[in-house]
Amino acid sequence: VSSNPDASRSRLIGAELDDPIADLERRARERLPQSIYDYYAAGSGHETTVAANVAAWSTLRLRPRVLRDVSTVDLSTSVLGEPIPHPILVAPTASHSFAHPDAELATVRGAARAGALMVISTRSNVTLEELAPAAPDARHWFQVYVMRDRGWTRELLARAAAAGCTALVLTGDTPYVGRKLRPSMATLRVPDAATANRPSAAPADELASEQDPSVTFESIEWLREESGLPVVVKGVLRGDDAQRCVQAGAAGLVVSNHGGRQLDGAIATATALPEVVDAVGDSAEVYVDGGIRSGTDALRALALGARAVLVGRPVLWALAVDGADGVATMLEQLREQLWEAMSLAGAATIAEITPDLIA
Ligand SMILES: Cc1cc2nc3c(=O)[nH]c(=O)nc-3n(C[C@H](O)[C@H](O)[C@H](O)COP(=O)(O)O)c2cc1C
Repeated sequence: VSSNPDASRSRLIGAELDDPIADLERRARERLPQSIYDYYAAGSGHETTVAANVAAWSTLRLRPRVLRDVSTVDLSTSVLGEPIPHPILVAPTASHSFAHPDAELATVRGAARAGALMVISTRSNVTLEELAPAAPDARHWFQVYVMRDRGWTRELLARAAAAGCTALVLTGDTPYVGRKLRPSMATLRVPDAATANRPSAAPADELASEQDPSVTFESIEWLREESGLPVVVKGVLRGDDAQRCVQAGAAGLVVSNHGGRQLDGAIATATALPEVVDAVGDSAEVYVDGGIRSGTDALRALALGARAVLVGRPVLWALAVDGADGVATMLEQLREQLWEAMSLAGAATIAEITPDLIA
């Protein structure tokens, strides 16, 4: 809220490394077996969308303002009415046990320390009941798929609400999991991704624990009624879809192509964002993920109308390198970079990050 109390310390960290996230990825790659590094890094198909996500942010040129009082810079904002200290959120990603023995327990602790709202994945390796007490004061949302087994889905919603999650994030872009082509992954056995959050009554067959490819916009209202929680739809890339989600009861949207892991060739999220923001106006909040790798990228996203950004792979690299400490440090570096980018762009508050900052 004030001028950044951690500035001098974080500056030092920043001075050591030009690009802390690229450095983390390098270190994670050295540490992890090839197949696991590839599982995290991969996109679907020829991975053109993975590359497009990162590239699209960097092509957006900025129009900094001069002579604005930035002696104090305030990063605080809110999502769905919940106050948060900065607009950098942790995206839901599966299978953290590949990266660290404490798996999502470490991620939850690291995110909490950095004041970052974390979206917990359905495909976590730690149960919701274990995660909640690991960071009792932190804010969590729960990412959900509508499973073929509706009873299990219902059970998940109740558990998420009981664990203190304050919103559901319905991932809409994954009727089936996009095929990854990296050779090392052919033999990788993903730890039964659903194990931790398995239903109390085992589903009749394996298929039952997969997401239902027949779901439509109607599931938004169903999830809202069943859980009593606001629903955010993740994976929206078009204005018309965004409007249909909002009409169907969504409180928020995540502009996302699943980090390039679903339809290869899908539009970069930086390119899709303005259309979605335009389409929904003030009727819902819009967040974005995919290729956010610096505070300047976050500034760009907010200038295009996103209320917050989510980061996926950087969290996994940080977790692999240094567990909860790694996650906290990485998120603090991003926050520090956003603080610096705001200062130099002449935006003292999140509200002052407006579209005219983009050339
Ligand atoms: C290894 C991995 C696992 C993921 N698992 C999930 C998941 O379980 N549910 C979900 O909605 N999105 C999942 N995602 C997508 C992320 O939530 C997010 O959209 C994406 O990672 C953002 O892009 P970035 O990695 O470039 O930051 C996953 C992404 C990765 C890289």
